[in-house]
Amino acid sequence: MRMVDIIQNKRNGNSLSDEEIKYFVRGYTDGNIPDYQVSSLLMAIYFQGMDERETATLTQAMVDSGETIDLSAINGHKVDKHSTGGVGDKITFITGPLVASVGVPVAKMSGRGLGHTGGTIDKLESISGFDVEMTKEQFISNVNQFKLAVAGQTGNLAPADKKLYALRDVTATVDSIPLIAGSIMSKKLASGADSIVLDVKTGTGAFMKTLEDSQALAEEMVKIGNNLGRNTVAVISDMNQPLGYEIGNANEVREAMEVLQGKDIPDLKQLGLELAAHMTVLAEVFNDYETAYQELEKNLHNGKAFQAFRSFIQAQGGDVQQIDHPETLPTSAYHVEVMATRDGFVTAIDAESIGIAAMYLGAGRATKEDVIQHGVGITLKKKIGDKVGPGEAIAILHSDDEHPTDSIQKVQEAFEIGKTQPTTNPLIYKVIR
Ligand code: URA
Repeated sequence: MRMVDIIQNKRNGNSLSDEEIKYFVRGYTDGNIPDYQVSSLLMAIYFQGMDERETATLTQAMVDSGETIDLSAINGHKVDKHSTGGVGDKITFITGPLVASVGVPVAKMSGRGLGHTGGTIDKLESISGFDVEMTKEQFISNVNQFKLAVAGQTGNLAPADKKLYALRDVTATVDSIPLIAGSIMSKKLASGADSIVLDVKTGTGAFMKTLEDSQALAEEMVKIGNNLGRNTVAVISDMNQPLGYEIGNANEVREAMEVLQGKDIPDLKQLGLELAAHMTVLAEVFNDYETAYQELEKNLHNGKAFQAFRSFIQAQGGDVQQIDHPETLPTSAYHVEVMATRDGFVTAIDAESIGIAAMYLGAGRATKEDVIQHGVGITLKKKIGDKVGPGEAIAILHSDDEHPTDSIQKVQEAFEIGKTQPTTNPLIYKVIR
């Protein structure tokens, strides 16, 4: 087999055979096929696309390029959740304990954040002592005992994807639906869960800005999951403004804990319950979505979901005093109000700009080497549709710098304020099975 023939085949709009796909994935991972040939093939895929079989084969080949996590020693049906990334997205801290609270095991591999969206592990590390480094045996034992554990992603999950993603990043081939879908799903499949619920974000703060693209990506990922033997459901949810009111690390953990203790923060509560309901239906604990939603909601009010969170944190070395007294979680030196530049109604909040403003404060990383400051972040005082009076605060910046000028400007630019109250976007657009 010759790489040049594979490139030509795809360039001419033909489907690649399974052998051709496996050949280039293996050859590239092993270092036997050079970057320039794979770049050329990626560009051909970008323009010609891939059909359902090709995408499934590509995904499986990326899974097979490295380690896969064997979760068979965990009792019960394992479900995983993946979000395509959003600002203020602390939903894992709500769905994980909710699902665990009805006995469904969640064995989660998570990453650290880079850019304008924060990472699950960074947020959890605001709790003193919390540790994601554990042996495989400890991870499995924690899930069996507490139904929830979060581990750092191992370096060797889908190494072909790691190499291909880095190459796509510098060859303008990231935004190809089959390549994105294969990339995300290869890591999910290698992580070993039996079923997967995907939270595909859509809107200004999302990777996919339009509903059409988000739906195409969601459909592609559901097909891959189902074709490769995992029941997969995708929920398309809104990311035209941050989720909840808190953006940062410790403050996001605090906000999620409030929801787990029954506080009604509408978007967080609804999305958390929606995703958890799909996860528990896939795990066959409930027969239908409506029953699952209602039963899970009870656990937000009777303490069971919060208890599941507390036990999981304690099992991974986290200081439960901080869970019982969230005011003792890290905070910043200064709390700076950002004032509206005009009065009216909030018509839009550019989530990406809010994420960048939080990153400037130190809540996220611009480069891999940056160190996260867990106590800094942003509290939104207004969301889309809210009225803003003259000189009213639209946000509070939790900052270690007394004058966070760049972040103030970024937050002010992120808010659009108009004369008439806008209609708000739905939180959930579609569910794809
Ligand atoms: N996230 C991934 O993991 N892969 C992509 O291709 C895009 C986003």
